[in-house]
Amino acid sequence: MSPPFTFSSNFLRKDICGSAWIGRQVRGVKTRLVVAIDVPTFVSARRLIETLAGIEVTFKVGYEALYGYGPELLGLLESRGAAYMLDVKLHDIPRTVHAAVKALVRPGVALLTVHALGGAEMLAAAAEAAVERAAELGIPAPGVLAITILTSLAAKDVSALGLGGSPGESVLRLAALAREARCAGVVCSVAEAGGIKAACGAAFVVLCPGIRPGGSAHGDQRRTATPGDARAAGADYIVVGRPIVEDADPAAAARAILAELS
Ligand code: C5P
Repeated sequence: MSPPFTFSSNFLRKDICGSAWIGRQVRGVKTRLVVAIDVPTFVSARRLIETLAGIEVTFKVGYEALYGYGPELLGLLESRGAAYMLDVKLHDIPRTVHAAVKALVRPGVALLTVHALGGAEMLAAAAEAAVERAAELGIPAPGVLAITILTSLAAKDVSALGLGGSPGESVLRLAALAREARCAGVVCSVAEAGGIKAACGAAFVVLCPGIRPGGSAHGDQRRTATPGDARAAGADYIVVGRPIVEDADPAAAARAILAELS
């Protein structure tokens, strides 16, 4: 019988926060723009990447791209030397997540996501696997970000899940869990960003989706805020999908958001 799954004790938080990928991004107060490649085909993804070339954005590869045309897209990003975010939202037993993270780490993966609701041991497994695999490959370790409460959930949805208190209280609890498990940071709404920085420290990465520039449609997002709000709250990154991807001029939309962040 194989031994129970355990985590090595020599795994240190500085392994992640000191990494070249993250270290270069959390210094200072700048809020960076992550663009979600939420488009249905590789051809449209490549067009979006080319359209945004030369603009200071990081790309995010999520379910739609990864399941639809993942290998082609990751190959393209790698060939361009791009650092990108792998939004895989892992949520499984610790051993499975550890193995998945080991399989996912590769050059260019700067950030990858797991669900904080997977629990402390699962979070620690993910964080440890990222460091282990990066060391094997001789590359900077990606930062593991724990998704707290999805920005598509309103207060009533959170209480329907059986979580006590407000969404903000759940988010703070989960952020503390993620920090304890040596994750690099969390994904949360802008409303929670300031509280997390205060509780978990300035170096703990805060990435906020649910961003809607003034006048743009909310779609399925509920806990939304503008890019300017995110900057004021001290978010390290904002993630924007539809307001850029579905704009008739994605480059102009991205530039307008960057102007609001500067
Ligand atoms: O189109 P929109 O700007 O709402 O896209 C947000 C992106 O951020 C999507 O790719 C979504 O999967 C992702 N995301 C999110 N909420 C999280 C984590 C990721 O909306 N908690």
